[in-house]
Amino acid sequence: MKLAISGKGGVGKTTLTALLAQALADQGRQVLAVDADPSPCLAGALGFPDELRAQLRPISQMDALIEERTGAKPGAVGGFFTLNPRVDDIPERFSVTHRGVRLLEMGAVDIGGSGCICPESAMLKTLFTHLLFRQDDILILDMYAGVEHLGRATVDFVDALIIVVEPTRRSLGTAAQIKKLAADIGLTRLWLVGNKIRNQDETAFLQANTPGVPILGLLPADLRVQEADRLGTAVYDHVPALKQETETMIQRLEATD
Ligand SMILES: Nc1ncnc2c1ncn2[C@@H]1O[C@H](COP(=O)(O)OP(=O)(O)OP(=O)(O)O)[C@@H](O)[C@H]1O
Ligand SMILES: [Mg+2]
Repeated sequence: MKLAISGKGGVGKTTLTALLAQALADQGRQVLAVDADPSPCLAGALGFPDELRAQLRPISQMDALIEERTGAKPGAVGGFFTLNPRVDDIPERFSVTHRGVRLLEMGAVDIGGSGCICPESAMLKTLFTHLLFRQDDILILDMYAGVEHLGRATVDFVDALIIVVEPTRRSLGTAAQIKKLAADIGLTRLWLVGNKIRNQDETAFLQANTPGVPILGLLPADLRVQEADRLGTAVYDHVPALKQETETMIQRLEATD
């Protein structure tokens, strides 16, 4: 199962990715979680210990590796470099595993094609495509805010695109944009997850205003989410209400798989 998590900035993409990844790992699934944010923070949400976090660095920042594989220094303009560098060893070599979740930090990936044609984007695009082709049991992609990264490669392979929203018009507006973009490239398997919900009114608001995307789950606002971050513990362990709703969401996902 390959899942991509998207949505407006700050709505809870990373939190949801961490919840789903840990819940699936606890069920004994092999989980590869990929942090595609330019400033990664999935390791924190998963409660990875400091010594493991210290071993992680986004692939996008590994200049020597990018040069070794593409034949050109990152940032180089002009000149020759390979557009399909070797990447098959990267997920195993540069990820770390904690409690059954293997985590890879990619850094920002511009799959949509609006970015530069340069060694680093060739490297990341190839890696991204490789991840989508791999036969991982579970792949979860924590995408960064916005929609422009949603390219063809994404939709050909992800089983579901999960759009996280808060009970606000703005985040629902972004969700509608993502839905449109997804439709443009043929991805129709979408789910909406409402996050930071404080009361019945907010639940009703979300239900009445979804951009025609079925609701996978509704996660309550809980101050313990921030507390988990402060304490460096996994949000999955620290916030029982979220753990419980995550398990329900997984049942729904699997029922339609
Ligand atoms: N259910 C919740 N209750 C309370 N706070 C939450 C909840 N979910 C997320 N948060 C808080 O909201 C903030 C943003 O969450 P998160 O980092 O998961 O969002 P994001 O969509 O990944 O953000 P970004 O776009 O910056 O990557 C964090 O401070 C997090 O602690
Ligand atoms: Mg995030």
